[in-house]
Amino acid sequence: MAASCGSATDQHAALRVELQEEFEGAYPATPAGGGVTHDIDLVAAPATIALLEGTETAVWAYNDTVPGPQIRISLGDAVRVSLTNELPVPTTIHWHGIRVPNNMDGVPGVNQDHIEPGETFAYEFTPPDAGTYWYHSHTEGSEQLERGLYGSFIVEDTDTSAEASTDVVWVVDDWLLDDQNQIDPAFNTTADRTHSGRWGNHMTVNASADQSLTVRPGEQIRLRMVNASNGRVYMPDFDTISASVVAIDGLNVAKPFHADELKLAPGNRADFLIQAPTLPGVYVVNDMYLGTPQALASITVLDEPAATAVTDFDTRQLVPDQLVPEWSGAHDAPIDHELLFETAEVDGEWKWFINGEAFPNHNVLDLELGQFTKIRLRNQTHPLHPIHLHGVFFKVLTRNGEPVDEPYFRDTILLEQLDEVEIGLVPLDEGQWVLHCHIQEHADAGMMTVMNIAPES
Ligand code: C2O
Ligand code: CU
Repeated sequence: MAASCGSATDQHAALRVELQEEFEGAYPATPAGGGVTHDIDLVAAPATIALLEGTETAVWAYNDTVPGPQIRISLGDAVRVSLTNELPVPTTIHWHGIRVPNNMDGVPGVNQDHIEPGETFAYEFTPPDAGTYWYHSHTEGSEQLERGLYGSFIVEDTDTSAEASTDVVWVVDDWLLDDQNQIDPAFNTTADRTHSGRWGNHMTVNASADQSLTVRPGEQIRLRMVNASNGRVYMPDFDTISASVVAIDGLNVAKPFHADELKLAPGNRADFLIQAPTLPGVYVVNDMYLGTPQALASITVLDEPAATAVTDFDTRQLVPDQLVPEWSGAHDAPIDHELLFETAEVDGEWKWFINGEAFPNHNVLDLELGQFTKIRLRNQTHPLHPIHLHGVFFKVLTRNGEPVDEPYFRDTILLEQLDEVEIGLVPLDEGQWVLHCHIQEHADAGMMTVMNIAPES
């Protein structure tokens, strides 16, 4: 009857307000500002790097280095990044995880036009949230990311009263090299598309196959890990070293937790706070995602006197509190959008579909600015899908029907075979933001759609 139907709607409206209020203050609605402006010039062009000891590998790079120059600023600072395209093909840059003005978000056809060879485009913004972010090409990622077009972007928190003595970024990637140690030029193959993207045969950290971090005994390290791979998932294991996770996908976690079995999918970042052992030696950091340890990098503890004043280190001095709503009431909230991920062959080419459409075809998802929104993501297939939302952080509510309480926000969530995940979010930034699979071959095969975030009309 009309009356009972009306009351259910009222209950939902009241619940939505409650959930929205629980979120209030989690992260800011407006950029910090008040800092300096950094002028940065990036040139995207072919280059060669020493990826493996004693060899030269041809890549595409920003300013001749892979990863590209690290951008490191303080919260409140602005950047003006001029990108000059000296590649033989069009390109753009996306600032993964950073809530930029919508026309700076870098998705061709949605937020800007392609930057053609020979052209320059200036990206200007003030990041509103401190944390570990990264930048990468958002054009033909299955080729451009694979060739090396990415870099890290760190926004330092100016509120913290302490700093780790070492603050280091490890950008993790895997490369498919031929026997000449050159990048296999067969990008975006049917095999890559129908499986979980292209997985390489050489894993690197900061484009080096034997990255080692040298520290003193007992030293405190903030290690920021970025997964820049097209398809590979990592599960970092720090040997006997104790590592706490203090931030995920940029924002701090509500409460640091032990790093066991943390899956870093393409696009994800994790900040670890590590106390170096007092026993000198070489400690191997392994990837455990495939079950057997594979060396990623190492931490070398010097045979030297222990670092001073690091013993009773208070992680909360380094990592200020982050409000993360519990959203236990979200279970009863209605689902605003449901997204089905499927694949099929169309005229001899494998495509990936979101609700039956392969990008550039898509159904726009309308999201209301400042309102709690619940989205259900359904992987109807076996390959992996790290789903990334531009312009908004979200929290995982359930996985395969079971409530999940992750003490952090994310911008990318891994769906493994046939997984169903519900996420909650409160969008704070207006505009057209894409949602897509971060496996570049899936995104390039259509697995992308657009969220339109606008005030209630
Ligand atoms: Cu890191 Cu739309 O991507
Ligand atoms: Cu996918």
